Amino acid sequence: MATYPTKRLRRLRYNPLVRDMVRETELSKNDFIYPLFVVPGKKIKNPVKSMPGVFQFSIDYLVEECKEVEALGIPAVILFGIPEHKDEHGSEAYSANGIVQQAIRAIKSEAKNLLVITDVCLCEYTSHGHCGILNGEEILNDESVSVLAKEAVSHAEAGADIIAPSDMMDGRIAAIRKALDYKGFSKIPILSYAAKFASGYYGPFREAAESTPTFGDRRSHQMDVANANEALREVETDIEEGADIVMVKPAGPYLDIIRQVKDKFGMPTCAYQVSGEYAMIKAAGQNGWIDEERVMIESLIAIKRAGADMFLTYFAKDAAKWIDKNRK
Ligand code: PBG
Ligand code: ZN
Repeated sequence: MATYPTKRLRRLRYNPLVRDMVRETELSKNDFIYPLFVVPGKKIKNPVKSMPGVFQFSIDYLVEECKEVEALGIPAVILFGIPEHKDEHGSEAYSANGIVQQAIRAIKSEAKNLLVITDVCLCEYTSHGHCGILNGEEILNDESVSVLAKEAVSHAEAGADIIAPSDMMDGRIAAIRKALDYKGFSKIPILSYAAKFASGYYGPFREAAESTPTFGDRRSHQMDVANANEALREVETDIEEGADIVMVKPAGPYLDIIRQVKDKFGMPTCAYQVSGEYAMIKAAGQNGWIDEERVMIESLIAIKRAGADMFLTYFAKDAAKWIDKNRK
């Protein structure tokens, strides 16, 4: 093996054309999934304070936004709904005329080349803000799973292309797969939030989705941030139950998990650059403490380099514009 002075790793760094040639990781718009928040009403575009550039849209404006996303060459959006009414059982989650179901139909008729992914959980729909059905302060697993399966089916009936369960109940992937197949949706893929950690980085999202729990937290179902082996067991379980794509969430602070999941299972692997990751980059950028655009791209390259085949990011539009500007 050659050593210095024969071996000089800087040789490939002097010329920008050579650097471009040896670059190992490139961002592609094909990998972007853009999260969107939809609220009841008309002509609504509410800024989410803790997420500059992110809004809650009513369906009319959401459709316009989707057309823009489509025109930018981003292939997919994921929808989060804020319902008209919340109740203990989150019943608007599986109503044929629920906010997400209406939004899916509107997007599918106006932005035909966009994949519509739906987040399946109950926390946006329950009056208590928990991801499942409660008995006292306990989140019941199996009762919640049957409601989640109904929610998934109603999204598919409205025209969703991919179903993404984010609840972290045990057995939900199997139940959702079975329910979808039974209703004739055997071709609809499941993108499972397989290793979802009980993270402080979700704070801004809960403002956007109005889904902060009224008491307690999500540690009885989301994973302990300290556990990697357990994350692999979660992912393995979801694959066995029929997940087509597995997700790690958050992304940036969990690159080790992304890499292990990709290496161990070789599955299509997704990562979610969550609201707090976005908010921190935005805030530091607005303060002039970092170069926002540069850190945005660096953060996304890192997620891809770690092994993610695709990712959810609130930067999708900005990153798509960056690609248009910088690609030869
Ligand atoms: C719902 C859900 C959450 C996120 C996506 N789906 C939040 C939570 O568990 O409270 C977070 C996404 C983000 O922070 O951007 N279960
Ligand atoms: Zn939830």
